[in-house]
Amino acid sequence: MIVILTGAGISQESGIPTFRSADGLWQNEEIDAVATPRGYARDPDRVHRFYNARRRELLSAGMRPNPAHKALARLEREYEGRVLIITQNIDNLHERAGSLNVLHMHGELLKARCENCCAVHQWEADLGRETSCPRCDEHGGMRPHIVWFQEMPFHMEEIETAIMRCRTFVSIGTSGNVYPAASFAGMARANGAMTLELNLEPTQGQHVFHNSMHGPASKVVPQWVDSVLFKKMG
Ligand code: APR
Repeated sequence: MIVILTGAGISQESGIPTFRSADGLWQNEEIDAVATPRGYARDPDRVHRFYNARRRELLSAGMRPNPAHKALARLEREYEGRVLIITQNIDNLHERAGSLNVLHMHGELLKARCENCCAVHQWEADLGRETSCPRCDEHGGMRPHIVWFQEMPFHMEEIETAIMRCRTFVSIGTSGNVYPAASFAGMARANGAMTLELNLEPTQGQHVFHNSMHGPASKVVPQWVDSVLFKKMG
């Protein structure tokens, strides 16, 4: 089994900004204001504006899966074992590239959750305080189905089981700044998995990886997938 952790870097060449690079999202927005429960309670309109803009961008014609997303979908189709993608990203580019086995541990931009009845809905329109829930019809409680700082990521039990079982753990396009995702490579290595980092440049957690390939994801991810599938056929 291969477990792959992806971060913003895999979607960067599709036009989605990363968070901590020079022109990253957190250079122009305060995390506390738009990505914490406190910020949402203080100014829900600002939080809705932030995610409405990112949802519209994601749905715009220009935002498409890049060769890295497509290579991972090919790996899932052609590799003889199981491939699981754990993504920190809230975009749907893995799914649009054809990957089926994807866990969004930080939620999804194209879903909304009702805080009154807990229903989760597919959602492409803008969200606001006046938005009513399609199931309970209450309004004022619809929020992005996204995990903010100080909130518990989704699917953690399934993620931890997969990390304990995998023989190969690959980290793609993540700076390793945010926990618990940043601890996954060390957990996998401690359980005997081969660990590999594919990233634009070395990250602060690089010592945890047995191997690394540096460069743009659209180049290094297809190269790595070819090497895995070729070994299989070799
Ligand atoms: N190809 C490969 N890697 C890239 C590319 C690229 N084209 N562009 C950038 N990178 C790398 C950067 O070198 C960096 O290591 O992607 C990483 C992006 O790091 P961050 O911006 O910190 O994004 P990420 O690691 O996904 O952040 C994790 O933090 O703010 C929260 O919830 C948010 O899910 C996010 C989490």
